[in-house]
Amino acid sequence: MWKLGVNIDHTATLREARYRGLSRGEPDPVEAALACVRAGCHSITAHLREDRRHIQDRDIDRLAEALTVPLNFEMANTSEMVAKALQIKPAYVCLVPEKREEVTTEGGLDVVGQSEQIAATCQRLQSAGIEVSLFIDPDEEVVKASKATGALAIELHTGAFAESYESESVQDAELTRLIHAAELGHSLGVKVNAGHGLNYENIKLLHRVPRLEELNIGHSIVARALSVGFETAVRQMLALMEPASPQGSQ
Ligand code: PXP
Repeated sequence: MWKLGVNIDHTATLREARYRGLSRGEPDPVEAALACVRAGCHSITAHLREDRRHIQDRDIDRLAEALTVPLNFEMANTSEMVAKALQIKPAYVCLVPEKREEVTTEGGLDVVGQSEQIAATCQRLQSAGIEVSLFIDPDEEVVKASKATGALAIELHTGAFAESYESESVQDAELTRLIHAAELGHSLGVKVNAGHGLNYENIKLLHRVPRLEELNIGHSIVARALSVGFETAVRQMLALMEPASPQGSQ
């Protein structure tokens, strides 16, 4: 069965809208993360951006301290972030492009163009016991290039699939892309995760994609938590991730 990683960045987005530059404020992303863990999520993702637009260093430090499930530390491949990862030693690091917007318009990492730098970071982090995953577009060339870097995992960018809901044919094409990339990644021996733009509707279609191990979902869970709370929002998502969920075919 799929595992669920909850990305709690947007709780910090809300906090920073009022408390930017201050040492505390609400909502607290760590409290949110702990509620998600109580509801049964399998990991927590947080992205420390260079511009600190949502998650702050202190959030990452507290998460690393408080979590009883793996922390998936999302970061750009910079020396500052590599040093931070080596300091907090999360279970996973997910390397992402640094300048991308919140809403999916850009693709995943340029693994082909930056293969040397990415391979060097994989080597440094993985020799410290941190599993590295590369956030990539679901394309054959990029999956193969990811394997060549030595990364143990890939996270397939589901943004294009998520944005294709207005056209069934585009949606089918995006699902096919994900299916091929997942099969290829699995056959090459890397762990295949997926994420970005997944929500309570499109998750039902994602059951067509084989080989996925963990889904990283943020915005839709945080948004739903505003009305039903984190524990219920996570339980509702976990129910839709069950293989036997009504639309599921996994
Ligand atoms: N995976 C990665 C690598 C991401 O960068 C994000 C968003 O920051 C997500 C998953 C979660 O995306 P969403 O918030 O749209 O669920």
